[in-house]
Amino acid sequence: MGDRGPGGMDEIKKNGPGGDSCGGDPGSGRLSGSRDAGAVAAALRREILDKVREYYRAAFGGEVEFVPGESRVPYAGRVFDDRELVNLVDSSLEFWLTYGRFSRQFEEQLGAFLGVRHCLLVNSGSSANLLAFMALTSERLGDRRVGRGDEVITVAAGFPTTVAPIIQFGAVPVFVDVDLPTANADVSLLENALSPRTKAVTLAHTLGNPFDATAVQDFCRRHGLWLIEDNCDALGSRYQGRLTGTFGDIATSSFYPPHHMTMGEGGAVYTDSAELNHILLSLRDWGRDCRCPSGVDNHCGRRFDRDFENLPHGYDHKYVYSHFGFNLKVTDMQAAVGCAQLEKLPGFIAARRRNFDILAGLLAPAADLLVLPEATAGSKPSWFGFLMTLRDGNGPRRDELVRHLEDRNIQTRMLFGGNLTRQPCFDDMRAAGSGFRISGELRNTDKIMNDSFWVGVYPGMTPEKLEYMAATILNLIREKAVGQRGAGD
Ligand SMILES: Cc1ncc(COP(=O)(O)O)c(C=O)c1O
Repeated sequence: MGDRGPGGMDEIKKNGPGGDSCGGDPGSGRLSGSRDAGAVAAALRREILDKVREYYRAAFGGEVEFVPGESRVPYAGRVFDDRELVNLVDSSLEFWLTYGRFSRQFEEQLGAFLGVRHCLLVNSGSSANLLAFMALTSERLGDRRVGRGDEVITVAAGFPTTVAPIIQFGAVPVFVDVDLPTANADVSLLENALSPRTKAVTLAHTLGNPFDATAVQDFCRRHGLWLIEDNCDALGSRYQGRLTGTFGDIATSSFYPPHHMTMGEGGAVYTDSAELNHILLSLRDWGRDCRCPSGVDNHCGRRFDRDFENLPHGYDHKYVYSHFGFNLKVTDMQAAVGCAQLEKLPGFIAARRRNFDILAGLLAPAADLLVLPEATAGSKPSWFGFLMTLRDGNGPRRDELVRHLEDRNIQTRMLFGGNLTRQPCFDDMRAAGSGFRISGELRNTDKIMNDSFWVGVYPGMTPEKLEYMAATILNLIREKAVGQRGAGD
């Protein structure tokens, strides 16, 4: 082991070998010490990456024939080429392992795409939601901080980890009903949900369809509330021309494989506020006060030069904790995959829109039996999925239709938890009659729980898969409707 970088890897040399002495040492091992060994390593690296390209073509290249009924029609999936594999292997050869150059690159590029000032990479969308909420509980926010028992307005028709951090902390989610067909918060219900304890609003853009961000922002401004925007299913969506994820005080993304782009496990939390960003960073990185990136020891130049009440003068700033934090960072291998995916994001968004439009056209004749999705007024969604709700009356039941599709190899999904308050995780709170509040009635939320499902529009869809999917849906609902009409005659 020498003290030079793993031969020829300029980036590693730039970053230095350093371990992060804050929470763990990602390793300071060098691969070689001599110039010759460095050149050998660089040549080997090129050879390995060429082999990876070749491997990609052998393992994943080439068209797979679609056989209706036999081939799977997934609701989502990874769409990638050799560049993701090359980045992944490249990063593994560097063996930096923890947050590193790809992570920094990803944060910068995603931040630039969104047009936000601060963007932090984390290990999942759920972690991003956890950080976003916990940031609002920081003592640094004074009177505006969310305390235990304070209320947060949200919806129950959605994904559990949008809401879970509120409950985990001991704050109280207040659920309002959603609108159909958008399945987003019915903004006319927000005022009624307000109480003297309301501190924030947390909402997701359901399946990529933006909620009425202007109305929600106005409501929050009027009442001095924080807004967390769960943008996990909506990367690239626009509301009144502006990207979703830029309306909230804090917004979040998920990069789990079904999402708009992936790094396996991954997420991001972003904000325009320097103060919130400092809190988010502290919470992500063990709760520490210091902002040194991994591998850097004295970023601010004042490591042994600060005073904190109750701590010895100049106590190592890397070990000063201003929050009770987590460690929610990603590995650089994940970020490396994300960097390659980010290049494809505009194409992914366009493909999702195109697929949605094709399916909407094909299913339009069923509008009398199905509530079909509609973009929120003034929005241009980057669709996550195609949500359908069976109308009351004629036609099949949801379980019949979903089984019919799954039996024919078409993958379906519920709108996540349906009505979250009916889920087993709410049993204790429901029995105790405390811990959450329902404002008004959750009629549409229950309708979604009983009668909605969705199918995919991800970039891996093809026109023939969309046609097969639409034909399979139309056949069954027509057959059932005719059968029921016949039985009634
Ligand atoms: C709206 C929403 N928020 C958060 C998440 C959680 O993301 P992750 O799976 O990366 O934890 C999901 C997951 O699909 C989601 O749909």
